[in-house]
Amino acid sequence: MKRETAGEKSVEESMVESIRLVRPEDLNSAGRLFGGSLMQWMDEVAAMVAKRHARGNVTTVSVDQLRFLKGAYQGDMVVLIGKLTYVGKTSMEVRVDTYVEGTDGMRRPITRAYFTLVALDGMDRPEPVPGLLRNTSEQRIEWEGGERRRAMRILRKEEGF
Ligand SMILES: CC(C)(COP(=O)(O)OP(=O)(O)OC[C@H]1O[C@@H](n2cnc3c(N)ncnc32)[C@H](O)[C@@H]1OP(=O)(O)O)[C@@H](O)C(=O)NCCC(=O)NCCS
Repeated sequence: MKRETAGEKSVEESMVESIRLVRPEDLNSAGRLFGGSLMQWMDEVAAMVAKRHARGNVTTVSVDQLRFLKGAYQGDMVVLIGKLTYVGKTSMEVRVDTYVEGTDGMRRPITRAYFTLVALDGMDRPEPVPGLLRNTSEQRIEWEGGERRRAMRILRKEEGF
């Protein structure tokens, strides 16, 4: 059955905030949070955001600008915030920011990345998604950045790097 794609949805409707505790099994040999675990948590948050917007199955097609700004350690609380920044016809760009939250409630940024996910129909073919409302100046700035990142992704795909 064709998915309902009429209309536009707000950024807030699909935003996800999640929190993880860094456990011993999440550490690398140097005693820091293993980057692969953090990337998995970020990918899960991005997928939840995209699923909420598309209301259906999604898959990750690319990850841009993943930057590790700081480390995290055993016992740290890692907050992950994912929100839509741009949508194309079948693709959605989700920005995921992660922070370590201290006992004083202060959040220290540790990573940020832009994930691109594609909505899929029952045959795993790309399927149109609802549009995205830009209600704040921050959302409009992110959208403009999303347009530029999309153009760079298309160029990179064409160039094969
Ligand atoms: C996602 C997938 C179905 C897209 O197939 P495709 O043949 O590239 O489809 P299309 O060319 O129609 O592109 C579909 C959308 O993806 C976007 N896209 C394709 N390749 C992309 C890339 N490398 N980076 C960013 N976006 C990309 C296109 O721009 C298009 O967006 P739009 O509809 O908003 O304009 C296919 O690439 C796939 O199955 N990839 C594997 C996904 C996966 O297994 N992920 C890991 C597990 S989660």
